[in-house]
Amino acid sequence: VQDLRDLARKLRINIGSAVDVAVLRAEPDYKARLNREFDHLTAENAMKWESVEPERGVYTWQDADEVVRNARRNGQQVRGHTLVWHNQLPAWLTTGVENGTIGATELRQILRDHITTQVRRYKGQVRAWDVVNEAFNEDGTPRQTIWLTHLGPGYIADAFRWAHRADPHAKLYLNDYNVEWNVPKIEATLTLIKQLQAQRVPIDGMGFQGHLGIQYDYPGDWANVMRRFADLGLEIAVTELDVRMVLPVTPEKLATQADYYGRALSDCLSVRACREFTVWGFTDRHSWVPGWFDGEGSACLLDENLAPKPAYDKLLTTR
Ligand code: XIL
Repeated sequence: VQDLRDLARKLRINIGSAVDVAVLRAEPDYKARLNREFDHLTAENAMKWESVEPERGVYTWQDADEVVRNARRNGQQVRGHTLVWHNQLPAWLTTGVENGTIGATELRQILRDHITTQVRRYKGQVRAWDVVNEAFNEDGTPRQTIWLTHLGPGYIADAFRWAHRADPHAKLYLNDYNVEWNVPKIEATLTLIKQLQAQRVPIDGMGFQGHLGIQYDYPGDWANVMRRFADLGLEIAVTELDVRMVLPVTPEKLATQADYYGRALSDCLSVRACREFTVWGFTDRHSWVPGWFDGEGSACLLDENLAPKPAYDKLLTTR
């Protein structure tokens, strides 16, 4: 096995990465490596609402298009990320809702238009959509977002139905973090999915973000959790895996990190329904971790110079 694309072929899953479009344009070595290693892409930010509609009615698809174009040219599939979320919403939308100029009826229409417009644009080019991202709190209660507050809990079923109408062949996912191990969140998510299925809502998959850190125990029950979702008939994906550490980097920490990456891949492989394994960035040169977790970093498979870390080698020998 030469590289991750080779590995993906052998394992019969897709192995993907999040891609930063500005970097894709600016750094040829990043681009070459991305396209050599990965057969699945997720836009790290380019398909989020604030990116595609920064002003009301003004659509800026250039960056999102670039990801889809890169995928088409390089034989990669695409995960669309994300349609309904509480973060990275455009200011016109959040302000409008806050000051009451956008009421509930209009907000529902805005969400419907957003989903329909974006999913239609990439019809046939996005294999799977993260339709609803991070719907629950850690204690399993529904997250109080503008969607829940103003549209009520039915917004989730509506979002999946609108997405399905816009591209009947795309796989439609719920996506969240800490579902790898957090029992209240797991139970709440399973309950929601059963309710959606009872209402014949078109939901196809469960995405596990997988933002892990070696200062915490590896989520040892993850394979079982995946199986519980798969038992509901869903496809499973690891959608945003990274394994951060408290700096400085040591050889011991890199070994632990390699173990976590390897276990995550074997957990996915142990569940037939797990068909995509995507990392949230592939090089420490460009990772969201240092900017979001104080004093932490080195979360990716390759270092700043694109040299493979032990975690990369570990994946190549995982089966
Ligand atoms: C992160 C990006 O990596 C950052 O560049 C951005 O500033 C904030 O969002 N869960 C998600 C992703 O679903 O969209 C987030 O991505 C990381 C956590």
